[in-house]
Amino acid sequence: MITLGIESSCDETSVALVEDGRKILSNVISSQIDTHKLYGGVVPEIASRQHVEAINLVLDQALKEAGMTLEDVDVLGVTRGPGLIGALLVGLSAAKALALALDKPLVGVNHMHGHICANYLAHRDLEPPFISLVVSGGHTYLLEVEDYLTFKVHGQTRDDAAGEAFDKVARALGIGYPGGPIVDKLAKEGQDIYDFPRVFLEKDSYDFSFSGLKTAVMNFLNQERQKGHEPRVQDVCASFQGAVMDVLVEKSMKLLKDRGHKTLVLSGGVAANSYLKERLEKACQAEGFKLYYPPNILCTDNGAMIASATYYTYQKNAGDCLLADPNLGILSTETRVQ
Ligand code: KG4
Ligand code: ZN
Repeated sequence: MITLGIESSCDETSVALVEDGRKILSNVISSQIDTHKLYGGVVPEIASRQHVEAINLVLDQALKEAGMTLEDVDVLGVTRGPGLIGALLVGLSAAKALALALDKPLVGVNHMHGHICANYLAHRDLEPPFISLVVSGGHTYLLEVEDYLTFKVHGQTRDDAAGEAFDKVARALGIGYPGGPIVDKLAKEGQDIYDFPRVFLEKDSYDFSFSGLKTAVMNFLNQERQKGHEPRVQDVCASFQGAVMDVLVEKSMKLLKDRGHKTLVLSGGVAANSYLKERLEKACQAEGFKLYYPPNILCTDNGAMIASATYYTYQKNAGDCLLADPNLGILSTETRVQ
């Protein structure tokens, strides 16, 4: 089965063709980062307009790279949430127009399911059940993935997502947008010497909270600057990253042991972080657990992960809702009525 996936939930316009949910035939990504960089973050209205400008070109390129025409596509899929409402609507409108014109089925895909599915593209042998840590710019989840579309949420963020904390700290440091990759790089030349808080919340809680850490970094920077001292940015990055990863690693390992799982699957933009992968590799090796993560290009937003999720959503007769939902929760998969 050939699925065509359309992604436009934030600042990447992407279209991909995937075979049987596992094999990427093409994955064209048009990033708006260079535009939003000028403003230090994503400007929703500009994002929507750029999606409108890019979507047809990206679609044509995806078909061309796969050596296919729209007639070869069996099922279309599009991100319907979570994300920016205006941005989502561009992808949904394009997808609906195509599905109507071609008279082919269209599936509404949950973007967070897509992030997890990135791993099915990268590792053809990987199958549920497993524990999954999903860390993106807008969400942080610690889940038990029971089946391709059945999840048990054990933990989620109560305030800022992990990626959001990276972006906000980078902004306070004035080092650019998006913050994650820059902090990752600078931290390699720094040391974890500042004692930023590791927020574990209540005993046995799998939830996360990164807003206090972000504030602690900002307060520290203000206090140092008031004293006329500018701390070494590399050390601030390493210390902040150390505080985030201590919590992510410890909670992930605890859930694996508590639930008796031996496989950890990482996904979302922050899964591209080299220090997170290094820490989890070590922790999993020590316990005899297997760790999976996608290559960086499949960690951040892309159409291929949506095309893979389209395949699994369609198989389950789900995804009939085609309304944009900016706050769509990870447990939402509607049953198709047909
Ligand atoms: O999954 P994603 O592309 O978008 C959302 O669905 O939100 O994730 C983007 C997030 C941004 O916050 C970005 O700073 C972060 O992923 N990110 C990273 C790295 N690369 C991207 N965070 C830490 N280290 C990285 N190497
Ligand atoms: Zn995403």
